[in-house]
Amino acid sequence: MPRSKIAGIGMYVPANVVTNQDLTRYMDTSDEWIQERTGIQQRRYAHRTEETTTTMGVEAARIAIERAGITANDIDFIVFATLSPDYYFPGCGVLLQRAMKMKEIGALDVRNQCSGFVYALSVADQFIRSGMYKNILVVGSEKHSFGLDFSTRGRNVSVIFGDGAGAVVLQPTEDTNRGILSTHLHSDGEAAEILAMYNPGTHANHWADKNYASFADAEIGEMFMSHEMIDNAQNFPFMDGPSVFKKAVVKFPEVIVEALQKNGYQPSDLQMLIPHQANLRISQFVQQKLGLRDDQVYNNIQRYGNTTAASVPIALCEAWQEGRIKEGDLVCLAAFGSGFTWASALLRW
Ligand code: ACO
Repeated sequence: MPRSKIAGIGMYVPANVVTNQDLTRYMDTSDEWIQERTGIQQRRYAHRTEETTTTMGVEAARIAIERAGITANDIDFIVFATLSPDYYFPGCGVLLQRAMKMKEIGALDVRNQCSGFVYALSVADQFIRSGMYKNILVVGSEKHSFGLDFSTRGRNVSVIFGDGAGAVVLQPTEDTNRGILSTHLHSDGEAAEILAMYNPGTHANHWADKNYASFADAEIGEMFMSHEMIDNAQNFPFMDGPSVFKKAVVKFPEVIVEALQKNGYQPSDLQMLIPHQANLRISQFVQQKLGLRDDQVYNNIQRYGNTTAASVPIALCEAWQEGRIKEGDLVCLAAFGSGFTWASALLRW
C-alpha cells in the first residue's frame, strides 16, 4: 500500500495588514490587551469585494500545484476545508474546481473548523493509500473578516481572527520512510455550543436547554434567519474563551503524543511541530508540556492571527519556505477547535 506525501505546498494571505491599533478605531481594545492574551500583533483582511474564501484558496492552490510539478488538469480530487464558505451551499470545493477549470472531478467540503485542514488531509491520505486517486488538492481557506462583530460587544472574538489560505498536493510514494505516517481524529460534541456560530441554522432553539447563549426566538417562516437575529447580533460567532483554553491545552498535547507513540517516537524526536495557530499562549503551553525547544515549534499567529482551517497549511508552508523543515524531518501537524474536534498528522518530510 503506498503512503501519501506532500508533493507541493502553497499559501496566500491578502495584502491588507490590520494592526491591533487599527482595531481600536472600531472597538474598545488595545494592542497591549491583544498581545498579552493572544500574542497577535496584526492580521490580514481580504479585499471586501474582490476576494473570497475560494479565490484565496485558488491562489494558494496554484502555488502548490506548480511546486508539485503538475497542472490543475492533473488534479483528480479536491478536499476544501473552511468555516467561512462563499455560500451556505454549495461548498467552496466546486467553486475552486470551476475557477481553476479542472476536470469534472470529485470535490468535498470539510466543516471541522480549526481542525479542518488536518481532517481534510486525513481524508485525502486514505484515498491515496487505497489507490483511488494520484493527485489530491487539499485546501484550507478562511475569510473571517466578513463575519465578525467589530463593535466592542464582539471584541473577545473579533481581535483573534484573520484571513488567508493554504494548500497542498498529496501524491502517492512507495518510499515507506517518507510521507504521512499516520493521522488521528477526535471529537467531543458535549460542549459544541461553547465555540459556535448558531445562525443561520436549523436548530430553532432545539438545543437551547444547553444554555450556553441566548438563541434567537424566531417565528415560523423566519426560523432560519430573522430580523431579530440580526438586531440582537446573533449572527456572529460565540466563544467562551476560558473554557476553550482549558480544553485546548489538554487535547493538543494528547493528540500529539498519540501520533508520536503510534510510530514509536518521543517529543524529542520531532524536528518541527506545526500547531494550529489558535493563540500563542496555547502554543507556548503545549511546547512547555511536551518539553520542546523553541526551534521545534513554529508560530506565526503574531503576523496573521488565527486563520482557522488555513492556519496549519500557512504555518507549514512558511516553515518550509524559511528552510526550517528539510527533507527527512519528522513533522507533526496538530489542531484543536470548535466541536470540539482535534486531530494530528505525523509525517516524514
Ligand atoms: N480587548 C480588551 N478587553 C477585552 C477584549 C479585547 N479584545 N476581549 C475581552 N476583553 C475583556 C472582557 O470584556 C473582560 O472584561 P471584564 O473583566 O471587565 O468583564 C476581560 O477582558 C477578560 O475577558 P475574558 O474573556 O475572561 O478574557 P481572557 O483573559 O479569558 O482572554 C481569550 C480571552 C484571549 C479569548 C482567552 O480566553 C483565550 O485565549 N481563550 C482561548 C480561546 C482561543 O484561543 N480561541 C481561539 C479560537 S478557537 C481555536 O482556534 C481553538
